[in-house]
Amino acid sequence: MAILDKHAILEKNVTLLTIFAFLVVTIGGIVQIAPLFWLENTIEDVEGMRPYTPLELAGRDVYLREGCYVCHSQMIRPMRDEVERYGHYSLAAESQYDHPFQWGSKRTGPDLARVGGRYSDAWHVDHLRDPQSVVPESVMPKYGHLEKRLIDGKYIQDELKTNRLVGVPYTDEMIENAQADFAAQIDPDGDFDGLVERYGDKVQVRNFDGQPGISEADALVAYLQMLGTLVDFSTFTPDASR
Ligand code: HEC
Repeated sequence: MAILDKHAILEKNVTLLTIFAFLVVTIGGIVQIAPLFWLENTIEDVEGMRPYTPLELAGRDVYLREGCYVCHSQMIRPMRDEVERYGHYSLAAESQYDHPFQWGSKRTGPDLARVGGRYSDAWHVDHLRDPQSVVPESVMPKYGHLEKRLIDGKYIQDELKTNRLVGVPYTDEMIENAQADFAAQIDPDGDFDGLVERYGDKVQVRNFDGQPGISEADALVAYLQMLGTLVDFSTFTPDASR
């Protein structure tokens, strides 16, 4: 009997067809899913990526709480118009320490994945306070309350611990010094050697909002200014051999 005839039997018998279809889907599913149980990580390591500093993490909390992701994505797709506008397309590794990730699904405003370093701190503070003062046609809401809300970072150590639980490689030392590092990042006259030792020399240490005290605006601007700055794309080449 030719193979076509055998197939005709399958096609005419709903029960048999269901059983075989189920088998095929099951095998296909297992082949795709099973390796994930043994792979430790499916994300390619990329040089330069590090966990957020405590201040950046606090800024990211503000970003989440205020719903910035409703209007802004952080995901540059590998298409020419996006790459020309925003820069190198986003790598999986760039959101590997994000819980949850901030890719977003809507762009009322521009993508923010590479906004770090594009504007000065003062621009960000003005823009958050009153977006229309710097971009007259902007429909972005005002976030002036952020610079008035001071934060002490008391909870930040627990937040680092929680992030470690879900896989962010915070060391014991980072957790121990979380609150000190939190404060050190906005004080360029103080001692921030430990912070730089733990998080690398790309950490930006400044009084981001230019006002005394650590405000939510300080934390948010610290976060925005580091976005997209960790990987050096002048030397980055995707490793296709893995
Ligand atoms: C209602 C939608 C909306 C929300 C919510 C929103 N934005 Fe925007 N954002 C915009 C629009 C539109 C622009 C472009 C015009 C402008 O620059 O103000 C923009 C621009 C920006 C820019 C400048 C980007 C660039 O490359 O020029 C930054 C930075 C920014 N927003 C940060 C934030 C942050 C942080 C939050 C949350 C605190 C936020 N936005 C919330 C709509 C929004």
